[in-house]
Amino acid sequence: MKKIAIVYHSGYGHTKVIADSIKTGIENGGAKCVEYNVEQFTDAKSVLWQELAECDGIVFGSPTYMGSASAPFKTFADLSSGEWFAQKWKNKFAAGFTVSGGYSGDKYSTLIQMMTLASQHSMIWISQGIMPSGKTEQDINRLGSYIGLMAQADNADPETTPPAGDHKTAEMFGKRIAQIVMSCMPKNS
Ligand SMILES: Cc1cc2nc3c(=O)[nH]c(=O)nc-3n(C[C@H](O)[C@H](O)[C@H](O)COP(=O)(O)O)c2cc1C
Repeated sequence: MKKIAIVYHSGYGHTKVIADSIKTGIENGGAKCVEYNVEQFTDAKSVLWQELAECDGIVFGSPTYMGSASAPFKTFADLSSGEWFAQKWKNKFAAGFTVSGGYSGDKYSTLIQMMTLASQHSMIWISQGIMPSGKTEQDINRLGSYIGLMAQADNADPETTPPAGDHKTAEMFGKRIAQIVMSCMPKNS
């Protein structure tokens, strides 16, 4: 069975609940999914790096803080340089998601950061691949993102925000990731 990791940071829980919906989608798509909080990767020697290296794909997640990925996510990215040096993630699939308070909030910068990280690791980037159905909170891809998943959360309990449409989008995105990972697995070279 293909295994996909979700590696995310969430300061206040809103990115975490979207990670959970992506996980549901991945499992609905037929792959195994393991979630990791970036703060579990305390140093470059953690045994968790080996677990990540055994996955077929990695989904990166972070809130957008001050127009970029959060500091804990960046710490994880910097620590991954050991994996980069040995190109341990080469030809694995990658995808990204971010949550912020604003409709834009400069979330695009965060997704670009994740795509750059994936590219440095010679990974294969999976776009969101879901057309917007409208602009209400019930709609799919209401923020009109394509390179990855964007969700928007108000300053309230993560049980209530981001709204249902963003969770549905996250499930669809997870399913797409699982289906792509399961249908195509290039050999390392
Ligand atoms: C330090 C900090 C910086 C933030 N910067 C932005 C920002 O640049 N754009 C934005 O739209 N929201 C910004 N926000 C709001 C968060 O992105 C939003 O509350 C998000 O849901 C937090 O996700 P989390 O609960 O997973 O930490 C910021 C929040 C914090 C705490």
